[in-house]
Amino acid sequence: MGAILTAENIERIYRVGKTDLPVLKGVSLEVNLGETLAVMGESGSGKSTLLHVLGGLDKPKSGKVQFNGQSVYDMSQARLARFRSANVGYVFQSFHLLPELDIVENVALPAMATGSRKDAKVRATELLSEVGLAERVGHRPQELSGGEQQRVAIARALMNEPDIIFADEPTGNLDSKTGEKVLNYLFQLIEARRHTLVLVTHSQEVASRCSRELFLKDGLLI
Ligand SMILES: Nc1ncnc2c1ncn2[C@@H]1O[C@H](COP(=O)(O)OP(=O)(O)OP(=O)(O)O)[C@@H](O)[C@H]1O
Ligand SMILES: [Mg+2]
Repeated sequence: MGAILTAENIERIYRVGKTDLPVLKGVSLEVNLGETLAVMGESGSGKSTLLHVLGGLDKPKSGKVQFNGQSVYDMSQARLARFRSANVGYVFQSFHLLPELDIVENVALPAMATGSRKDAKVRATELLSEVGLAERVGHRPQELSGGEQQRVAIARALMNEPDIIFADEPTGNLDSKTGEKVLNYLFQLIEARRHTLVLVTHSQEVASRCSRELFLKDGLLI
C-alpha cells in the first residue's frame, strides 16, 4: 500500500508574547492508504497542531506536507480550499455544527457549494440514518445530545467521500459508553468505505482499534 499523505520535517512554533514556543520540532510521517492511525501523547504535546498541519488547515514554519504527491502548502488559497473540501473530512472534539441549520443541512453543507442541493440532502439523510439518526432529521444540533451531535459531525465529515479523515478526540467530550457507540459508527463507516483515518485520542483502548499507533513527545513522533 502506498502513502496517501507524507509529512517531512514539520516544524511549528507558536509565538506567545515575546517567546517562541516550539511545538513540532521536525515531525515526519507517512500515512498509508486505507490505514487507521492513532496519534497519542500528553495534553499540550501538539497533537491538534499536527492534525491541523496535516489536514491543510495550518501552514507549518518549515517542512513539507504532500497529499498524493502534491505539496499541500504550495497550493494557492483557492486551490487549497477546493482540495480540502474534495479530499479531507474533519471531526473535531467540539462538533462545530451550525446552530441555525437543521442536521440534514449541516451534513449536506460540504456538498452544497459544488453539487445539487437536492442530491446533497438525500445523501445527507442516508448518512444520518447510517449513524442511527433517521428519526432526528428535522432537528437542529442544539436539540440533540452530545453523542448525537458528534454522530452528525461524523456524517458531515463523510459527506464528500473524502480520501482521508482527521478526527481530533472525537469522543473526548462524551461519557465512555456514548463515546464507544460513536466510535463504533465511525469505524463501521470507515471500514465499509475504506477511508484512511488519522485519529487523535487520549485513550489507549480507542487507539488499540486503529491499525497503527504513534506517540507525540517533545515535539517528535515516536
Ligand atoms: N494558537 C496558539 N497560540 C499559542 N500557543 C498555542 C496555540 N495553540 C496551541 N498552543 C500551544 O501549543 C501546544 C500544543 O497544543 P495542542 O493543542 O496541539 O496540544 P494537544 O496535544 O492537542 O493537547 P490536548 O490533548 O490538550 O488537546 C500547547 O502547549 C499549547 O498551549
Ligand atoms: Mg488537542
